[in-house]
Amino acid sequence: MSVTALPDPGPVVIHTERLVLRDFVAEDLDDVAHLVGDDQVTVWLSFDSRTHEEAKAMLDGILERQHATPRTEYYLAITPAEGAESVAGFIRLGLGGHQAADLGYALRPQWQGKGYAREATMAIIEFGFDKLGLHRITANIGPANEASQRLVKSLWFTYEGTIRDHVHTNGEWRDSRSYSLLAPEWANAPRCGYCGRRIPAPAAPSRTPKFCSTAHRQAAYRTTRSAN
Ligand SMILES: CC(C)(COP(=O)(O)OP(=O)(O)OC[C@H]1O[C@@H](n2cnc3c(N)ncnc32)[C@H](O)[C@@H]1OP(=O)(O)O)[C@@H](O)C(=O)NCCC(=O)NCCS
Repeated sequence: MSVTALPDPGPVVIHTERLVLRDFVAEDLDDVAHLVGDDQVTVWLSFDSRTHEEAKAMLDGILERQHATPRTEYYLAITPAEGAESVAGFIRLGLGGHQAADLGYALRPQWQGKGYAREATMAIIEFGFDKLGLHRITANIGPANEASQRLVKSLWFTYEGTIRDHVHTNGEWRDSRSYSLLAPEWANAPRCGYCGRRIPAPAAPSRTPKFCSTAHRQAAYRTTRSAN
């Protein structure tokens, strides 16, 4: 694997509205073991569920790679902004090739379905393009993983094709559907007329809305009304 040396932003802490994405620390072991030992989560990943000991080996590797020069991996803990000690999941950019990275993520089941994955993914995409100078981010997803495909499509990724027998997991070969997002596409993605954040891509072809949520459309309407 060849990796272009990219700007090193130092220790990483990214704040979003409801989350903090940060470098893992050794104290995260029990949370990591719960996450990667949960069949409900790993059934969608490229590796099988791990024992506590295997989770420790995995975390040790993550901690060691944090100090690699040049750094080739940003494997971050997703933590709630309130009570930031507990780990809700992970999000990862693995650098490879020329200004390129692979994206990966997982949330513990109790954190799913609340928009946290989307919030974390938007933040790491911005970090990747703005701070690391990436040009391309790829996400390879199991064909049956609808939640993950919905997520990347909502963030303006484009489907590129299927990688056959891409990973061996849960005792069998599995294809991946490959999606990518380029820096200019992200820069040009439409922004909410109220908060300025990227608007999710519509699930079906339609006119892109001007606001990221109904609440923000109503807030913008109220602001315009009170100004007139
Ligand atoms: C893939 C995965 C991270 C997606 O997580 P998720 O929580 O479903 O994703 P999102 O953050 O986009 O949230 C989705 C739902 O939260 C809700 N939501 C969105 N924003 C919200 C907000 N601000 N407040 C409350 N709920 C919200 C929506 O109902 C949304 O559902 P929709 O996509 O049908 O509209 C999760 O399924 C997972 O960890 N799976 C196991 C591991 C895995 O598959 N990893 C990826 C391998 S490729």
